[in-house]
Amino acid sequence: MAGGLFFGIGPGAWGDARAPASLARMGPPRGCLVDQHWPWWPLLPLYPYGRRPTLVRELVPGQVWSFEQLQGIFYVAVPIRMTVLRLREGLMLYGPVAPTRELLAQLRQLEASYGPVITIVLATSSGLEHKLPLPALARAFPRAQVWVSPGQWSFPLRLPLRWLGFPAGRTQTLFEDGLPHGDQLLWDSLGPVDLGLGCFQDVSCLHKASGSLLVTDALVAIGPEPPELFDADPTPLLFHARDRGDEPLSDGAEQRRKGWQRLVLFASYFQPAFLEVLPLGQVWSQAFQPGLRNPRSYFGLYPFRWQAGWQEAFSALLADGQPKLQLAPVLERLVFPRHRDLLLAWLRRLSRLQGISQMVGAHYLAPMPCTGADFARLAAELEARPWAPSGGDWATLAAIDGRLLDWGLVPGSRPK
Ligand SMILES: [Fe+2]
Repeated sequence: MAGGLFFGIGPGAWGDARAPASLARMGPPRGCLVDQHWPWWPLLPLYPYGRRPTLVRELVPGQVWSFEQLQGIFYVAVPIRMTVLRLREGLMLYGPVAPTRELLAQLRQLEASYGPVITIVLATSSGLEHKLPLPALARAFPRAQVWVSPGQWSFPLRLPLRWLGFPAGRTQTLFEDGLPHGDQLLWDSLGPVDLGLGCFQDVSCLHKASGSLLVTDALVAIGPEPPELFDADPTPLLFHARDRGDEPLSDGAEQRRKGWQRLVLFASYFQPAFLEVLPLGQVWSQAFQPGLRNPRSYFGLYPFRWQAGWQEAFSALLADGQPKLQLAPVLERLVFPRHRDLLLAWLRRLSRLQGISQMVGAHYLAPMPCTGADFARLAAELEARPWAPSGGDWATLAAIDGRLLDWGLVPGSRPK
């Protein structure tokens, strides 16, 4: 998702020379620790922990903006996105991210031009990474109405919404309490899918004025190049670009690309087939080499060896080297393995919507140019091929699903 692959949209707002003048004024200089601080990170301790730089990109001039941050487990980091829509009455925020001072300052600038934030939408019932920033974001905009997906749940205790920090008196549930801005937005719901501990539900929204279909986790598009978001600190890419733990981190376009593609495989399959996990003794023998004795390099602890052919697994996530509309493998194998028909019906409903010109998901690349026909094509492809496979790259996901079934944590039974 590097700048060159953003389908001709403007570069990001890091406050650098590449940003257009209107956006370059947004946001403080790169590296302003206080402004990028996210104090609630211990609730979900994901990389980059307490410091969350935000990249702002204007996806449709004067109508749609992307506010992106990174999040990940150790260095397996992918973009998480809040989309800002300009509506007739003001701004709508879809998919909360950490409201740092930097992010809020950028939003205040949009408010000055386009009107106040009037609506905040949490469109997923299960995505904790989208849920956790909601209370702080809602507090920053005390006059905004908050809308959440049906079926909100918490673990290990089922707590009422206001105990989770959702503001009492101005939080409503989509579909159950109505739908906001129905004259400008078309809403649909994927789910609910019973996950045992709670449910999965993803409420999509078509912004008719721009043709942007917003989704949270349901669909993704992955680019062959690393997202621009890594420009500020490419360490996760460089870490995964290496072949051994005693190799120093070195920077370059090829290393960044290689690291990104491996990182995507981790995020997609957890342990893809071409990845060998090394025994502890071997990991230890390569660690603590000169130049690697620092936390940034995890002291040289690198328990992986990529075998020849891993690039083909990455290529399969693209279409002839270009991004494609797709269901993330994690969702196919862990959320929808026994609910393909529900997904196909949703895709076919989307295919009948008039005016879709692009998808904006909450992760990976956006916008992804597409039309209703692309959703119909995806549904046909998913229907024609083996569903939720268990071999090859999918083996680890399948093993997790099997274990959850065996333990009775998700409803259903293993296929015969
Ligand atoms: Fe997510």
